[in-house]
Formats: sequence, C-alpha cells, structure tokens
Amino acid sequence: MTPVRRRNTLCIVITLALGGGVSAILPAQTPAPRRNIDSLLARMTLEEKFGQLNLPSVDNRPSAEQLELLRKGLVGGFLNLTGAAATRETQRVAVTESRLGIPLLLGYDVIHGYRTTFPIPLAEASTWDPAAVEATAHAAAREAAAAGVNWTFAPMVDVARDPRWGRISEGAGEDPYLGSVLAAARVHGFQGADLRAPDAVMATAKHFAAYGGAEGGRDYNTVDVSERTLREIYLPPFRAAVEAGAGSIMTSFNEIAGTPSHANRWLVTALLRGEWKFSGLVVSDWTGVEELRGHGVAGSRADAGKLALETGVDMDMVSRIYVDDLPALVRAGRIPVATVDAAVRRVLAAKAALGLFDDPYHGATVEREQAVLLAPEHRKLAREVAREAIVLLRNEAALLPLTSARHTVAVIGPLADDKSAALGSWPGHGDPRDAITPLEGIRARAGEGTKVVYAKGCGITDSAAAGIADAVALARGADIAVLVLGEAGDMSGEAASRSTLGLPGVQEQLLEAVQGTGTPVVLVVMSGRPLAVAWAAEHVPAIVQAWQLGVETGHALADVLFGDVSPSGKLPVTVPRSVGQVPIYYNHKNTGRPPSAEKYTSKYIDLPVSPLFPFGYGLSYTSFEYKDLKLSAPSITPNGKLRVSVTVTNTGAREGAEVAQLYLHDEVASVTRPVRALAGFQRVPLKAGESRTVDFEVGAKQLGLYDQNMKFTVEPGRVRVFVGGSSVGGLEAEFEVRR
Ligand code: NOJ
Repeated sequence: MTPVRRRNTLCIVITLALGGGVSAILPAQTPAPRRNIDSLLARMTLEEKFGQLNLPSVDNRPSAEQLELLRKGLVGGFLNLTGAAATRETQRVAVTESRLGIPLLLGYDVIHGYRTTFPIPLAEASTWDPAAVEATAHAAAREAAAAGVNWTFAPMVDVARDPRWGRISEGAGEDPYLGSVLAAARVHGFQGADLRAPDAVMATAKHFAAYGGAEGGRDYNTVDVSERTLREIYLPPFRAAVEAGAGSIMTSFNEIAGTPSHANRWLVTALLRGEWKFSGLVVSDWTGVEELRGHGVAGSRADAGKLALETGVDMDMVSRIYVDDLPALVRAGRIPVATVDAAVRRVLAAKAALGLFDDPYHGATVEREQAVLLAPEHRKLAREVAREAIVLLRNEAALLPLTSARHTVAVIGPLADDKSAALGSWPGHGDPRDAITPLEGIRARAGEGTKVVYAKGCGITDSAAAGIADAVALARGADIAVLVLGEAGDMSGEAASRSTLGLPGVQEQLLEAVQGTGTPVVLVVMSGRPLAVAWAAEHVPAIVQAWQLGVETGHALADVLFGDVSPSGKLPVTVPRSVGQVPIYYNHKNTGRPPSAEKYTSKYIDLPVSPLFPFGYGLSYTSFEYKDLKLSAPSITPNGKLRVSVTVTNTGAREGAEVAQLYLHDEVASVTRPVRALAGFQRVPLKAGESRTVDFEVGAKQLGLYDQNMKFTVEPGRVRVFVGGSSVGGLEAEFEVRR
C-alpha cells in the first residue's frame, strides 16, 4: 500500500467516526497546519480539553473504566500500553468511538532497548561513541514503534556526581559536555529525521532538573544547588536535547532550593520556554503533580493541579488531578482557559508531529512487530556496542587477553551466570531468557583445548559464605580465575540508592579468598554504578568494568577477554576509593587551598583525595602515544574559533581504538572555574603502528562562563589546554583570549 493510499484509507475510517467533520483535523499535507489544531480546539468541551492533558497508566491493558474515559474523550494518552495488537485496538477506540476521534500518545520507558536490551546508558556512555549511542536508540525506537509505542520517556540526561544514587545507571555519567553530546545522539536516534516515520518515537529529556543532585544520593531527595551549578552542570544536556529537537521534557520529582520542579515556573516557563524557546510538550513525572502536596506547597489536589498547570506542566501523568479537579477551577475563574488551551495545543501539536492524525497506529502492525523485535541486526548491534562499553581498569603483566595457554578457566561468582542482572534495571520488554551470561559467552568462545569450570561462590547479597570453599578449590585447580562480581539489575535504577559502594554481601570475601589461591584473577565488575573496589585495585591483577551490557553481555565480554577486540571504553564517571569521598568528580574547583603535603589544605586525614580511577580513564591491549599538540593561533577573540590538533599513534602490536580527550582550564576569571572541563573528544580507531591527527574546535561554547550576573560571556585571559587519554595528565598548551 502506498503512503498516499494509506492516508486516504484512514481518512475514510476517521471521517466515518467523526460524522464528516474530519477535514478540520486531517490535513491534506502533513504536518497538520496550525488552523487544524485551532479548529479542533474550538470544538472541544472543557472536559475534553483536560482529557487531552490526562495521562493514565495501564496495567497491561486499559481497564473497562479507562476505556469508558477514553470514549468520553477524557484520556490524552496512556503509558505502559504496548504491543501492536493492543495499541491498535486502543487507538481504534480513540479514533472511532470518542466524539472527536483524537488519537492517543502511547508512552513507554524505552531506556536501553525495547525487546533487544542494549547496554545500560552508563555503559553506553563509556563508549564515548555518539554514533553507537544513536544507533541503539534508533533500533530501540524501531522496535517500540513497531509495537505501537509512539513516545519514549528517554533519554534520561541527568548529570550524576553521586554513585550512591541508583539512577546513575540510566544516564551518561558526571560530565555536562559528554552528557550533552550523548543526549543529542539519543534524541536523534529515537526521533530520526521525521517523527512520522514508522521507526521513530518522540523523545523525552528527563528529569528536569537536577534530579541527580539528591542529597545523600537518596532517590527523590531534596536538591539545593546554585543557579550557577544548574546552568554549568545540570542543564547543558537538557539544552542539547532541546536543540536536537526533543519533542518533550519531563519534570523531576525533586525540589531545587525550596521549589519542586512541578511548581517551578522559573525553570519550566521562564528558562525552558522563554530562554530556550522550547515549544514541545512538558509531561509530569509519575504522580509528580499530586506530590506537590507531599512537598508541602499545595494544600489540596486542586491546588496541586493549578500550580503544576500554571507552571507549564502540560500533561498530568497518573495523578488524574487535571481532568478531575481543574474544570471546576476554570469555571470558577481561578484558572484562565487560555492556560488550558496552551497546554492542549502542545499535546495536539505533538500528536500532529507524530503524524497520528494521518495514521493513529504510526505504522505499527502485528506483522511488523514480529519482524522487528529482537531482529538479528539489533542483536548484532547490541554485541558491538557492548564490546565498546567495556572499560579495562587494570591489567598487570598483560594478564589479559586470555591466551590458549590457559587450559582451565574457572568462572566464579554470583553474576557469572545471572541472566537478569545482565539486562540491568530497566530492560523494557527484554526477556532474561535471551541474555547471554558471562559464563555462556566464555564457554562459547573458549573452544577446544580450554576447559571452562564454574562455581557460583555466593549469592549477590547473601551473608552465607559456605560456597566460597568450593570456589576456592575450583580456582586452585585452574590456570586462571574469572570472577564476575557486582550488583543485581535491581540494585541500581529508580529507588535503588545505596549507602555503601563496595561489593555487596560476601563477594569481597569470595574475591579475597580466590585471590589468595595464587591463581591469577580477572575481576569482572558487573554493576549499574561505579563500585569502590579499592582492595581489588591494589591486589587483583586484571579488572574489567563491564556494567550491565544487555542481551549480548556474555558474547561481548568474551570478545574482549579473549582479545578478539581490544577494550576501548573510558569511564564516564569517577570511581571513588570509598563512599566517604562522594561526591567526587573530575571537574571540581581548585579551592583556595588545593590539596598538598601542607596540613591546612583541602583533603582527608585518612584517605587520598584522588579517585580510585579517574573520569575518562580506560586501558587497552595496545598502547597509544600523543604528540605534536598544536594550536591554530596563540590567541583568539571572544567570538573566535581555535583549532587544537594532536597526533595519536598506536604504538602497540595490535589494533585498538583510543578516545582522545580535550580539556580546558580558564586560569583566572571573575568566577571560579573547574580545574578542567571536557571540551571535545573523538574515538580514534588505529591499526598497529598507525597515526592519525585529530582536530578539535574550540569556541565560545566551551570557553564561556556565567558571570556574577549569570550572563554567559567569554572573558579575556589565559586558557590551559590538556589533551590525552583521560582527565589526568596529557599534553599541555596555552592560548589567550583577547578582546
Ligand atoms: C517514574 C520515573 O521517575 C520516570 O523516569 C519514568 O519515566 C516514569 N516513572 C514512568 O514510568
């Protein structure tokens, strides 16, 4: 069927349903012109308007009561309704059985995959590969859209400086620049070039804002950050998502300095809509509107609804306050109808942008769904990206890669054969049965001549240590022990904050006992957050940070352990030595008393201030050398551009990829500046012996700062440049900004 015929067919269906009034909402040409939204709005009752702002969640399928509300025009969309058959049937009810036949937004948390589970976002951030991140988002969108979902509540672009916070797993780590690049990549991946395409879903940048700044790393907790920290650290990835065209933004559960985000007019209206010119849809978080009562800024449901709507929160997820309580307030003259209309317009505009007035099913069919979910090309992509996401933290005496001389490999640990943990905290419709565990991957790769033996050793969080003896015996008889330790999938993500950052349960005991056998140990850390494995960093010869790599975990891990590919991941987040160092991040300020041997300086008396592993760090099986750092000019004007170039050479004997990183430091400014701030990066694949010159462009965006009046400006002065393979060390140069 051609697209034109398909549109005509749907016109007929909807025309019948609307009794001939369809021309008002079905444009001959898409996207729907504004007048269509205007005329639709003109025909809506107040209840139908609030219906468009109502976003309930289904429990698998809409209940009979929800379908009745839908028929009455009191539902604007559903979340958690998935599957081509169910979504088509529900859209059919919306377009044929409600008075105005307005199609539904169908939202779902497609966080790191829909059916094919890709690495968790923190792992994907370790690739420093925007193209890879865009590709997985696109594949996830393709699957979700085939299942009738037209809206994802992703990407989560919250900067996280505190690994106690479980949702660190869902974001791109601690850096605003890396976070911005990856936020844009994910938005492009989800939305593609045209939201109407059958493999596109509308993206939601969340949680607006500073959700990751929760005190004590405790989820949903109070945030109290300055406007400077907001603008410099937490907001840039949101801005990047907006600039990339994200269709929606989700407000965050937290308050900032006394104002909950769902009631923060400055944030949602002045900044997001006014300053950034965001014209898309703002959706509340789950019962975020109702929770304004818990925050203590609204005394009743109606007050909470009024506050949120007037703040600029267009859709009310789950609270059901807008649709139930607000029509009376409008009738009483307490909420201007224009405020309601503005929100409704944005919801209708999103539906029009998705092409739902032309095709409410958005191309989803049962056949397409069957063809696309867990498609071989998606699994292939999952494996490729998972390999890139693995970060090699330590490799003494080149213990890795494993060679054929290791005749017996003992695979040990509670995560070695755990299919659920491999999928992480939010696998969507991922099925653990499809996941390849580390043990399965190692067995599949080891081949003839290598014996793979396995012992669990202990549970993930258990206190029972009885299994350790068997694991030790197994390790004694092996040539190498691969210990797969860390966290279960649900130990990170939402409502999964931790107060400690070590290996849970008795896993540390297991590790130390196996290490005590003298058999060389490779520690594979599977976790949704960086773990403070300080003892291991000193005693265990090889450490691999494998995060939660999704459906292809075991294969990707084996690819790296056996050296089929060289590891190339770099940390998107600082790994602390101990939870007591948190928050710890590379782009900190210098203070007036930077740490030194002198007593009265900023440090601890019982722990170094440096991290266990720094941001940007990651080893390879080959080696890289940086040389010939050059600047295109010794000075630039505030609006000028400067080119920084460097030559990277693979000096080892095998192929590998390096992530070249550019950092800047403004030496003297009117406000304090970070000791370093990431200003550019590039993944550079290099054959053995190969060299490549890498160029970075530096301009106002990287050089600017918010002055004391919060005006973004580039100040004159000297800027230090660092280029290298991590946030520590590297080649250095300097240039001057001159008026
Ligand atoms: C609450 C979470 O904070 C948010 O990220 C998610 O999108 C919604 N629930 C909907 O599931």
